[in-house]
Amino acid sequence: MLRSAPRLARSPWASVVACPPDPILGLVAAFKLDDAPRKVNLAQGAYRTEEGQPCVLEAVRLAEARLVADPTLNKEYLGIEGNPEFNALTARFVFGGDCPALGGGRVATLQTLSGTGALRVAADWLRLFAPASAAGTVYLPRPSWGNHAKIFERAGLSCGGYAYLDGAGTGLDFEGLYADLAGTSAGGGVPSGSAVLLHACAHNPSGVDLSAAQWEALAEVFAERGHVALFDSAYQGYATGDPEADALAVRTFVRRGLLPIVCQSYAKSMGLYGERVGAINIVCADGEETAAVLSQVKQSIIRPAYSSPPLHGSRIAAAILGDAELRALWLKELAAIAERIRSIRAQLTAELERLGAGGAGRSWQHIVDQIGMFAFTGLAPEDVDALLADHHVYLTRDGRLSIAGLAGKDIPYVAEAIAAVLAKK
Ligand code: LMR
Repeated sequence: MLRSAPRLARSPWASVVACPPDPILGLVAAFKLDDAPRKVNLAQGAYRTEEGQPCVLEAVRLAEARLVADPTLNKEYLGIEGNPEFNALTARFVFGGDCPALGGGRVATLQTLSGTGALRVAADWLRLFAPASAAGTVYLPRPSWGNHAKIFERAGLSCGGYAYLDGAGTGLDFEGLYADLAGTSAGGGVPSGSAVLLHACAHNPSGVDLSAAQWEALAEVFAERGHVALFDSAYQGYATGDPEADALAVRTFVRRGLLPIVCQSYAKSMGLYGERVGAINIVCADGEETAAVLSQVKQSIIRPAYSSPPLHGSRIAAAILGDAELRALWLKELAAIAERIRSIRAQLTAELERLGAGGAGRSWQHIVDQIGMFAFTGLAPEDVDALLADHHVYLTRDGRLSIAGLAGKDIPYVAEAIAAVLAKK
């Protein structure tokens, strides 16, 4: 006997309207559906090989092989704070083995769901436990990673901004940045005691970083004005190829006695994107405070959100960070990646200049000067739209181009596409 389908209940979701696609991940999804014979995805920060393929580092493969062969490992839950071995190693990685804060037991470190998860835990932490001056608003550089504001706003914080890029939009406006954080800019800048997000290195989206002297000057402003520094460290090792050099900003702040929060990700630096490996580190004043902070992050934030983080990725990262041979191999691979990214920057710039893209007077030198995974091209949103519509080249609408995702074979095509779009204007 044929049964008719039951009548559906009245839907509680009838008034829900669809969200516009995510400005980064939405493009990745659109790229996958694009059936054009020639297409190039430069929208997301993910490293690709010379052939344009995803890359699993040799150090990761070896670490995984060791894990699989180890009969003593099981799949029990991790504690709320994550893998203790990973936590100790990741803190040492970012702060340095000789860091007095680490030696003094003054850092609360917890494993998180990569960098995004670390930032969300930091956002909840600020809202719940920061002094009133830092518990309501977080100040972000203008521009910042597209997801930053969403993370903080979803956690109930507001977002303010501080100056970062110059008028051309491709270099640093240190004067403006300094004045905003020192509270001396025309509008009064960032109020004392604020929470301020800083990109530890390889600023996303611009690839424009501060010099060592500028970080020193900024640390002094933070100390004077009592700002709470929240570092997003998603590219340690990617900017220069040397993780020690890329930790300079964080270490400068800690050396000067500041107590920053540092969010880490191994998505890019170990290519562990989908494994979601990261950490939050909260530098504290003493051991007792550290224990209290650790217990609150565990019980008030992580346990009610997701109980505990995943096991596998943290074991891979710990195996690499903690084993001399694997670590040396990883650092060699990382240096080679950074070198290759520098070479792609130079090749793309040369090609754009050879084609006279944007007219004879237009310089593309900033692509070489910027560092990290991205180039902030200076292309306008309508140029980006035309690149997609006419050439199936995908960039985010702020003109950010993933240099790390640009295969050698695609450099001439992308340069020609940019030149063609600018010529049509
Ligand atoms: C990016 O900026 O492209 C990456 O951090 C990936 C992401 O999640 O946005």
